[in-house]
Amino acid sequence: MTQPASRILGMGHFLPPIVRTNSDLEKMVDTSDAWIVERTGIRERRIAPESMVTSDMAAAAAKLALEQAELEAKDLDMILVATVTPDVPMPATAVFVQEKIGASNCPSMDLSAACAGFVFGLSLADSLIRSGAMRHVLVVGVELLSRVVDWSDRTTCVLFGDGAGAAVVGPAGGAMARDRPRGIMSTRMNTDATLANSLTIPGGGSARPMSPIALEQKLNKIHMRGQDIFKVAVKNLQSSSQAALDDLGMTGADLDWICPHQANLRIIDLAVSKLGLPRDKMLTNIERVGNTSSASIPILLDESVKSGKVRPGDRVLMCALGAGISWGSAVITV
Ligand code: UT7
Repeated sequence: MTQPASRILGMGHFLPPIVRTNSDLEKMVDTSDAWIVERTGIRERRIAPESMVTSDMAAAAAKLALEQAELEAKDLDMILVATVTPDVPMPATAVFVQEKIGASNCPSMDLSAACAGFVFGLSLADSLIRSGAMRHVLVVGVELLSRVVDWSDRTTCVLFGDGAGAAVVGPAGGAMARDRPRGIMSTRMNTDATLANSLTIPGGGSARPMSPIALEQKLNKIHMRGQDIFKVAVKNLQSSSQAALDDLGMTGADLDWICPHQANLRIIDLAVSKLGLPRDKMLTNIERVGNTSSASIPILLDESVKSGKVRPGDRVLMCALGAGISWGSAVITV
């Protein structure tokens, strides 16, 4: 097995303070706690207060990641922010993050791959470090989805939440834990445009610029055909995870944990069982945070490492699928 080129040097996450429970939603739309729990596994989600913007959450997570990495913002060579809920259409949210964490002059840009955004960002950071072009790359997955959810649409509003997770990626430097080389071992990225219309925010871009009619039609809000995504999610998460394992000559039995995107407990359960993994290797926090899109994997991984559940030397498979549809997997040794 080749030595990893890069590894996660530090992580952090931020969850906003407001808790919106299923019982709160019962008062807003025609739904029930029982339906939401049975179909999704979600019991509550976090909502950002009105005064907060996406880059605030990203910066809070990034500062914690830098602290754990024992680096300063000026040590960063690049900031990559994966988000579909930017502060503004232009400039990139990464620019505001740069300012808020006190980084200077490093290229800073956004990455739009929806729920797969963090895995895509990790893969890019690994390539940049492997090539020698960069030394320290900050990858943030952050979403303020409560601003783009139609709170009168029961088919979507029960699913999503706000939050941020960040990782500072740097040279693996031969680091070892429990006789295993620590680092990013393999990554896979995929996109299939045939399902592009299954999950969209249709308005606000060049196709349908914002207008009073577009606002009236709620084109600035999330529109989703959940069943379309559900069907491909299980299949694609399984195949790309298998490909990431095949690249390493590994099987599911070589993994300590699977850290899947938290979209729906049923999707995760099915994907994990198709990979032949026992359920007790599956990390999950969907019950408390809902679907935070690109933020979901780094929040879950950071919580799991900080709680001591995932330990240095553990092999973790991450996998995510979302709008695009885009999906990806990564195997790391923590
Ligand atoms: O992270 C981004 C990627 N997104 C995903 O991965 C989401 C993938 N899809 C899903 O997770 C599921 O499709 C949902 C959770 C969105 C929906 O669950 P489902 O089991 O696929 O439900 P469904 O869409 O087939 O709807 C079943 C019924 C419908 O009623 P009828 O037509 O059978 O009378 C819906 O109108 O459930 C109804 N329904 C609800 N009922 C109570 C839909 N949403 C709700 C709700 N409360 N919140």
